[in-house]
Amino acid sequence: TLLKRSVSAATSTQTTRCMSSSSTPKRKVAVLGAAGGIGQPLGLLMKLNPLVTDLSLYDIAGTPGVAADISHVDTGARVEGFAGEQDLGEALKGCDVVIIPAGVPRKPGMTRDDLFKINAGIVKGLCTAIAEHCPGALVNMISNPVNSTVPIAAEVFKQHGTYDPRKLFGVTTLDVVRARTFYSSLKGLSVREVNVPVVGGHAGITILPLFSQASPKVQLTDDEIEALTKRTQDGGTEVVQAKAGKGSATLSMAYAGALFAEACIKGLNGEENIQCTYVASNITDLPFFSSKVRLGKNGVEEVLGLGTLSDYEQNGLDALKEELRSSIQKGIDFVNPQH
Ligand code: NAD
Ligand code: LMR
Repeated sequence: TLLKRSVSAATSTQTTRCMSSSSTPKRKVAVLGAAGGIGQPLGLLMKLNPLVTDLSLYDIAGTPGVAADISHVDTGARVEGFAGEQDLGEALKGCDVVIIPAGVPRKPGMTRDDLFKINAGIVKGLCTAIAEHCPGALVNMISNPVNSTVPIAAEVFKQHGTYDPRKLFGVTTLDVVRARTFYSSLKGLSVREVNVPVVGGHAGITILPLFSQASPKVQLTDDEIEALTKRTQDGGTEVVQAKAGKGSATLSMAYAGALFAEACIKGLNGEENIQCTYVASNITDLPFFSSKVRLGKNGVEEVLGLGTLSDYEQNGLDALKEELRSSIQKGIDFVNPQH
């Protein structure tokens, strides 16, 4: 697992350094929003990842301290901190993967869509800079509302003539991490053996876990399926309420973001793997949709279909489409206002 590997990387740095100079390709990762609640632990996890050779930590403020701190960790990645818009281009230059957790988090009582007003502009600005300075990078969008920020990024890239749908991802890994955790603990399974696809989008009912396709397969009652589905859909809100005004998931998100970034880098390095993520898609009638995707050297190599759905899941799919469609349109309209 990522953490096991990270810990062993941290305890045997000599081996890691030797390996990274001989067999591992150079991979530069940027975290935009690196001084934030997600950005700090995510930066640390990227520093622990032996596949990362260069780590660029950008925020509007606070990054010199975070970068100095993380740079003392004795693993291979070279760390640089950048603060303020004038340094954004330099932070992005040469990046293979750009992870974006920049923006405001929810407080109790808010929906993810309530964040649109502030975060849409932040994401638009950052994606404009990506189009200019590292148009070939894979972009891992964490900033909410993901259902809209990914279409915003796509439209910005289109305007700059740099859009490659294989390279833009909404990070929905935390939904998968939650579904795995809740399913395994309900059924007494070893969580490391468990997988659960989660499709749709990343907000409320648009999050659709497919427990009928969970592995290993264990009998679930209708009530158990309902409870697991609702808990996965409301996982973010559970954390927002528990933090009581101090933000949303940061640590589990940093873990999930690190898992997904590692999967992207592995793909770039030729180690193909399958992840659930929110991408440009034609497996439904919606232009963006989260499903299993095969990652490889070009980013998305293949968007996989939904497989057989239970009646409960089919109803969930029918029910989520209207909200997801309007969130996508809201993102598109933000970049292309109709007069
Ligand atoms: P935070 O407020 O702790 O950190 C956000 C950081 O972004 C701050 O350091 C801030 O300075 C920085 N920032 C603001 N404007 C910026 C800009 N223009 N350029 C660069 N950095 C900028 O928030 P957080 O808890 O880290 O959450 C960040 C975002 O991630 C929120 O929108 C939250 O909803 C989202 N989130 C998504 C998921 C997911 O599953 N996709 C999970 C958790 C949180
Ligand atoms: C999450 O799922 O934890 C994030 O999208 C943050 C939130 O606002 O719930």
